[in-house]
Amino acid sequence: MKHLLKLLDLSSEEIFSILDLADQLKYENKHDIPHPLLAGKTLGMIFQKSSTRTRVSFETGMYQLGGHALFLSSKELQIGRGEPVQDTARVLSRYLNGIMIRTFAQQEVEDLAKYGSIPVINGLTDFCHPCQVLADLMTIREKFGSFSGLKMCFIGDGYNMANSLIVGGLKAGMSVSVATPLTHRPDGSVLAFASGYGDMFKITDSPMEAAAGADIVITDTWASMGMEDEKEERIKAFAGYQVDDSLMAAANPGAMVQHCLPAYRGQEITEKVFEEHAAEIFEEAENRLHAQKAVMVKLMKSE
Ligand code: CP
Ligand code: NVA
Repeated sequence: MKHLLKLLDLSSEEIFSILDLADQLKYENKHDIPHPLLAGKTLGMIFQKSSTRTRVSFETGMYQLGGHALFLSSKELQIGRGEPVQDTARVLSRYLNGIMIRTFAQQEVEDLAKYGSIPVINGLTDFCHPCQVLADLMTIREKFGSFSGLKMCFIGDGYNMANSLIVGGLKAGMSVSVATPLTHRPDGSVLAFASGYGDMFKITDSPMEAAAGADIVITDTWASMGMEDEKEERIKAFAGYQVDDSLMAAANPGAMVQHCLPAYRGQEITEKVFEEHAAEIFEEAENRLHAQKAVMVKLMKSE
């Protein structure tokens, strides 16, 4: 594994190996056992969209690993004035040991990896959010002990989170069911991948059908970053796709709720369901730190 561009690129073994290391780093963190595995290394973090969790968890994670992280807003980089990604990649590769990038087009992340010579980590694109889903998988495994026999469902927009959850969930060994409006289906490449999993994957426009017997219920905002102008029209398009008490009643008793955050109470999730599952949701947020530290160690540690 040279980069983390999307979960489609990773084998199940690679995903499990990241999760195992993440568990170990979390244990060490909780027991104040230092792990300066990336001493002297530097990570550049390019942000073309806002962030709370991704920025703070990568920066803190790099510090805990003995390295240093630089926050690079694309507004202030020459890339924001039109310097080609090919040149940015080759320049940054001369200074840094790794790049984390959050941007719009997946192609930009792929190009950074293609033209640079250091590991690239996708911190969210319109297509996917692999770091988040590694943290989600870690949180699910912490609760249930393993993935086998579990059913995960995603309710809402077939966008970056849905795309990564489908791929990550299936590669981890869970069955995955997704409910989105017909107008907001996941990416075609993801559906093509999932079609290879037969009965383990189901897609429907009925949230109740997707949630039936689910062990994990997941949702995401209806209006992602960059869609601010579509907010009103999206609230209408996703009416009926709210994670509420009736949807939770269709899931298995004791089902877990995951939300990548930020959450919009009263839209994709009710205040009540959110607060009843807050411990799981904030554990998931914490696990961003541990999962991403594992990714950075896998990609950036010298042998
Ligand atoms: N979930 C997530 O990626 O959060 P941020 O947008 O705050 O980084
Ligand atoms: N789908 C959301 C995820 C935020 C972490 C977005 O892209 O804004």
